[in-house]
Amino acid sequence: MKFFLDTANLQQIQEAVDLGIIDGVTTNPSLMAKEGVHGLEAIQEHYKRIAMMINGDVSAEVLSSETDDMIEEGLRLASIAQNIVVKIPCTKAGIKAIHILKEKGIRTNCTLIFNVGQAMLAAKAGATYVSPFIGRLDDIGQDGVVLIGDIVEIFKTYQISTQVLAASIRNQSHIQRCMKVGADVATCPLAPILSLLNHPLTDSGLKTFMEDAQKLK
Ligand code: E4P
Repeated sequence: MKFFLDTANLQQIQEAVDLGIIDGVTTNPSLMAKEGVHGLEAIQEHYKRIAMMINGDVSAEVLSSETDDMIEEGLRLASIAQNIVVKIPCTKAGIKAIHILKEKGIRTNCTLIFNVGQAMLAAKAGATYVSPFIGRLDDIGQDGVVLIGDIVEIFKTYQISTQVLAASIRNQSHIQRCMKVGADVATCPLAPILSLLNHPLTDSGLKTFMEDAQKLK
């Protein structure tokens, strides 16, 4: 399973790149706003910097909601760097934009997916990735990881090449369960990824090794 970092924060991206554990980046308008990026030029410049930092796909989300505007924006975003993937919401206008961008050779990530039907329509339109949101489904009392497993299974049944990018991941358990159900990618902030390193037996084992290491000196 690939790990994408779900952030627009350059420091966090650099930290993950330095650790050698990151295969790509996803962003959304909320994450960009959090970094204080405003205006078309600044947004493009920010994406350019991210795209140069990472050897993998970088999802850049459109800010418009009409098909023609999404296409225009998508073409502009895709021209920033070869590893930019245009992120488009799962609406009727978005599905049409995905289809047209696919015909123009532009890769897309269909976002805000909450059921298997949306995932199937996005895949049929030609999305490179579908992004089902785990945490937000959990928030309304559902089990988001079950949806990831269902989409993986359906895409396998119909030999659909669209990749399942599990999004809205909040914790270590989400990541581990995504691995089990066969998600192609998990995108999340750095903290839940690094929490995979935590185990009390690692800590206690290391403490003993360090104590015994003193006896060897
Ligand atoms: C990534 O593609 C999504 O925009 C992101 O994971 C959403 O996460 P959230 O539900 O924690 O905002």
